[in-house]
Amino acid sequence: MKRENATGPSKNPGDSPRSVVQVDELPAPSTTGMEHTRVIALLNQKGGVGKTTSTANLGAAFALAGLRTLVVDLDPQSNLSLHFGHEPAADQPTVRDLFMNPDLASSEMIRVARENLWFIPSDTELALVEGELALQPNMQHILAERLAPVMSSFDVVLLDCPPSLGVLTVNALTIADEVIVPTQAQYLALRGLEKLLETVLLVQRALNPRLTVAGVLLCMHESQSSHGKAVVEEMDSYFAKYRGSELPWQNAEVLRPAVRRNIKLAEAPSFGQTIFDYAPTCAGAADYRALAEAIRRRWKPLESRESEHTSAGIATS
Ligand SMILES: Nc1ncnc2c1ncn2[C@@H]1O[C@H](COP(=O)(O)OP(=O)(O)O)[C@@H](O)[C@H]1O
Ligand SMILES: [Mg+2]
Repeated sequence: MKRENATGPSKNPGDSPRSVVQVDELPAPSTTGMEHTRVIALLNQKGGVGKTTSTANLGAAFALAGLRTLVVDLDPQSNLSLHFGHEPAADQPTVRDLFMNPDLASSEMIRVARENLWFIPSDTELALVEGELALQPNMQHILAERLAPVMSSFDVVLLDCPPSLGVLTVNALTIADEVIVPTQAQYLALRGLEKLLETVLLVQRALNPRLTVAGVLLCMHESQSSHGKAVVEEMDSYFAKYRGSELPWQNAEVLRPAVRRNIKLAEAPSFGQTIFDYAPTCAGAADYRALAEAIRRRWKPLESRESEHTSAGIATS
């Protein structure tokens, strides 16, 4: 299915000879009534859990619902672009330039994916950035500083994190309002979650007091499995223990609905498509659409609470 692209006539983004946008072509802030751009980091230090699939398809679901959405690929595996039909080209700037090339404006890295949907592609050489960044002062704030000039153009920014808790992930957490943890309902997932929450707490205390954890997103979920059911119950009671704790995950939950295992979600990127292009009526599309709505519903009460304690920090408001 061909779709209208936001800055010009209908085109397949992958075919486009020039899909880079200039900053004056970026959208004006929309009138969704949101207090500020909502930045979500999709994070799990384990690979293959559904981070990229969720970033691409939640991003597409937000865009279809009218939110101006930017997705940023922070994983050197560069899989996110595949969901939008984008072939990496050697001469096009990537997220690596965002970190390493301060002379290039951030808007130069932003590509048009679909109507209301933009993305910053990754680069296999991003793996080298981890080492190079470690030598820079202020290394945790580079993403925040570089995205600040374009932030007000977007309602939502989704960050597809690498499967590690290194410098790139810390940069994502420094700019994020909330963390979503794509995972499977397996016993070991809970242990990995505890390690991840430790990192979130360190970043929240040292770098970003606004940071919260929205919860876990169950991907490839098999609701009939009794082991799965038991783990979901355990996750529910794990989060319930922390209500009122003042920890960043005090309002976290197992986000519903879970995303069911659905082969169409695995097939769509091989056609350069999101699930809403490829199979808009399948269970995978229904799950991501409902999940985007559920995530959005969580923001309303949180935003009014956040505006009460106006937080210091990076320029995302
Ligand atoms: N709900 C799902 N049903 C079926 N396959 C899925 C689902 N979610 C993800 N996958 C597949 O699982 C694999 C890992 O997902 P991916 O999103 O790439 O994980 P990560 O980014 O965490 O490494 C991919 O092949 C993807 O297509
Ligand atoms: Mg990935």
